[in-house]
Amino acid sequence: MKKHNIVLVGFMGTGKTTTGKILSQKLGYDFVDTDVEIEKRCGRSVEQIFDLMGEEYFRDIESKIIFELSECNGIVIACGGGVVKREENINNLKKNGLIVLLKAHVDAIYDRIACDDKRPLVRGKSKDEVYNLILEREQMYNVFDVSIDTTDKSPLNVARTIADICMKSL
Ligand code: S3P
Repeated sequence: MKKHNIVLVGFMGTGKTTTGKILSQKLGYDFVDTDVEIEKRCGRSVEQIFDLMGEEYFRDIESKIIFELSECNGIVIACGGGVVKREENINNLKKNGLIVLLKAHVDAIYDRIACDDKRPLVRGKSKDEVYNLILEREQMYNVFDVSIDTTDKSPLNVARTIADICMKSL
């Protein structure tokens, strides 16, 4: 039987990676984090890629990896928060995937990412600046049928909710 992919999208710090790992174990699917794939392919960290090659280079590799993953079956994919910046990525992911948007309040997002200097687009940014980036992205995120607010939920709880949705809709 052909298995669909489950694709987690959403702003940085909404819990895509942690939730995705738990979800993949629950469903018996493989787990792929696009940032980790990009790092493996480039032999450099996300930060280094942004600093040395620039964002567009990062986005090109990201789009290539998304295309390849969209040809696979039965994987949980945690996407980098900026995957929505290119429509082709979403079109590719939709071909064989249920896309689930994870959301969270800016306070929760900021608490989760503030001390993490591995995210070049929010490194050293104030909460207001992060909020502005969330607002810029909002329209791109608000196109998905399934969304879950992770503000007060544990990754396990979110993974259970998604697993339930998958049972009903796939
Ligand atoms: C980005 C999100 C990051 C990573 C890169 C750019 C973004 O992934 O892909 O730093 O543009 O939102 P996470 O959402 O997993 O932190």
